[in-house]
Amino acid sequence: MCGIVGYIGQRDAYDIVIKGLQRLEYRGYDSAGIAMYDGMNLNICKTKGKVSDLEKKAKNSNTVFGKVGIGHTRWATHGEPNDQNSHPHFSNSGRLAIIHNGIIENYDAIKILLQNRGFRFHSDTDTEVLVNLIEDVLNNEDVKLGKAVQIALNQVVGAYAIAVFDKEKPNEIVVARLGSPLAIGVGEDEFFIASDASPFIEYTNSAIYLEEGEMGVIRLGRKPRIRKIQDDKLVDPYIQELQLSIDQIEKGGYEHFMLKEIYEQPTAIRDTFRGRMLVDEGLIRMAGIDDNIQKFLNVNRIIIAACGTSWHAGLVAEYIFEDIARIPVEVEYASEFRYRNPVINSNDLLIVISQSGETADTMAAIKLAKENNAFVFGVCNVVGSSISRETNGGAYTHAGPEIGVASTKAFTTQITVLSLIALKLGRAKGTIDNSHFHMYLNEMATIPGKIERVLKENNHIEQVAKSIKDAKNCLYLGRGYNFPVALEGALKLKEISYIHAEGYPAAEMKHGPIALIDEEMPVVVIATRKGHYQKVVSNIQEIKSRKGRIIAIVSEGDTTVKELAEHVIEVPETIEALTPLLTTIPLQLLSYHIAVMLGKNVDQPRNLAKSVTVE
Ligand code: G6P
Repeated sequence: MCGIVGYIGQRDAYDIVIKGLQRLEYRGYDSAGIAMYDGMNLNICKTKGKVSDLEKKAKNSNTVFGKVGIGHTRWATHGEPNDQNSHPHFSNSGRLAIIHNGIIENYDAIKILLQNRGFRFHSDTDTEVLVNLIEDVLNNEDVKLGKAVQIALNQVVGAYAIAVFDKEKPNEIVVARLGSPLAIGVGEDEFFIASDASPFIEYTNSAIYLEEGEMGVIRLGRKPRIRKIQDDKLVDPYIQELQLSIDQIEKGGYEHFMLKEIYEQPTAIRDTFRGRMLVDEGLIRMAGIDDNIQKFLNVNRIIIAACGTSWHAGLVAEYIFEDIARIPVEVEYASEFRYRNPVINSNDLLIVISQSGETADTMAAIKLAKENNAFVFGVCNVVGSSISRETNGGAYTHAGPEIGVASTKAFTTQITVLSLIALKLGRAKGTIDNSHFHMYLNEMATIPGKIERVLKENNHIEQVAKSIKDAKNCLYLGRGYNFPVALEGALKLKEISYIHAEGYPAAEMKHGPIALIDEEMPVVVIATRKGHYQKVVSNIQEIKSRKGRIIAIVSEGDTTVKELAEHVIEVPETIEALTPLLTTIPLQLLSYHIAVMLGKNVDQPRNLAKSVTVE
């Protein structure tokens, strides 16, 4: 969701801020804006639409000048996406400009209070209320900008990452974070501000990540001064050296980030294995588990909470944890879990799964579980993210930056990490014997190579995509381990091509979706040899006899399904529990090609955000 960028230093801020906003486009947004201080005036340019629209609008204005500036991509929450509601917002006097990612929940009450004091509002946003509240503090108390921001923030309820600029203090930017991420890039006599490090990684790899409830005054010529918003306690800023490289956040010759990320999966999974899966020694080493092994071995049940694609990875994990480690598992949408008064206690283990590590509902699930004394373990991709900090232990997926909004390599690496955990626990509990454990390790090690084989089917998959691209609806079916894959396949299609798609357990088809089947309806069926094969073949026959169009994902060399299906896409054989790592790949490519053929914006689908930081 909303992205924020800022710069203060010796270079032209405009170029840095615009490029930074482009790097944050993946977060999802519907309008964009910048504010630049040219030494005299604070100039603002904002527009509904893309960063490219903003550039066009800014080109002939004063907003291109200045050595200090802030910029924002907005994903609308309060007020429709239009020029007026876009950020930055000015305070009434025109002295302050603010950018904000998050929600101020009590903005209505504050707005009335400020209106009674003579403030006027030009947008429908909660953010404009906040910037005027800061101005109100400056008007009435003899304090500096940093203190005024702090006083104002202590009056608001909600979530935020903000940057505030005061044209009377042009050497500084004040930032704060609660519930939304904010990183400060530290260069030589220059500072960068951003929602994540991607906008500044080409200039510096030294960064300070603000912790929850912290704010900072960033002034040229000195170290950022960080303090706690609530109690004013000074914090010694920890400057970390980032491992991120510019290649990781560029397309590297691919037409879209999504395609690049699909192709990165073999490497990403090898990176997930690295240092953990020691095939020759017959060992899985994971510090997050080893440090808490008794907790894991003594739990009564595991609750998995996540959203979107991560929730689908949780469903796959349910099968593998119960199958291999014999621990009961419940998988919950974090958004439901947080509000339905669930029974949780200290014998429960909550596993949260999140690519971004910032999803608001998943954060809330952690809070709830902790209040009930459950141990919380996180499976995250983004190192240092809020979720990775809030959990009691965790394992990173090491997929590298995922920029396409439709999640691909995050999903397969989540399944990889969760499979490693299940195997490790199964071995420790004795629910899987040594020879099976070794067999799994050996087979896991072959998965990246097998994915490479599936990727070689890309041209064929493109042809299949061509034949179904004009469908209005699509059904995805799978059983057992491949039921969550069917859900994920359907999600991928709707996310980026806007074709309505449903994922279903194949046998459930008879209880509803079969009524939809006719000669217009493509049905994508996962029918690999391992896993209820005969049952799925029967389901395929049921579709066939109703003239449905069958696209089947089958094991290499399959002949039975080939006779029944309009198209088959082959994947190599593997152990049933590991099939999702292979069957997912053609479904990703299928959606990708359909979306490209339909001319959709693959990497930034409409209305979607990469990380959903509000409820
Ligand atoms: C959004 C993204 C999805 C993602 C979901 C959960 O909807 O568009 O790709 O699966 O959020 O995000 P998380 O970062 O918690 O995995």
